[in-house]
Amino acid sequence: MSSRVPLTYGKKVLELFRNPKNLGRIEDANAEALAGSLACGDMIAIYLKIDELTEKIVDAKFESYGCAANIAAASILTEMIKEKTLQDAWKISWRDVSSELGGLPSVKYHCGVLAVGSLRRAIRAYYVNRSKPDWLPKEFTQEEKHALEEEKLMEALAKRAQRAAVLTS
Ligand code: FES
Repeated sequence: MSSRVPLTYGKKVLELFRNPKNLGRIEDANAEALAGSLACGDMIAIYLKIDELTEKIVDAKFESYGCAANIAAASILTEMIKEKTLQDAWKISWRDVSSELGGLPSVKYHCGVLAVGSLRRAIRAYYVNRSKPDWLPKEFTQEEKHALEEEKLMEALAKRAQRAAVLTS
């Protein structure tokens, strides 16, 4: 008998998992970024089409290689940022994402963190060759740091699993 406790996802999470909005890539995106690690499969890629004059996000899409919460978080985030300026999109936290989804189970908070981490990375990528606005912090925010920590942890776990596989083969 399995000892795993089933996760209680809310209606919105399940709805977006089954029918995600904005799934796919934008071929002519002018900002894009990844957060997560292919090594373990939890990953989000985000693509933004930004109006250069107004700095508004006119289109946003994502690709996800993760769990139901990962897909739902990326999907709702891409909905939340459309027609927002980069400055307003930057202010969205993983807690905003979670609350827009009707809440995430605590073990799934990091899925929202990865979504916001990928968005912030994409926004930073947009400004790499442009003059940086005052509102863009020089230091990584907590969510960006958290996404980096997640990536390091996932890489370490994947390496440990690879070593274990070699030892048992
Ligand atoms: Fe890792 Fe959801 S993204 S469990």
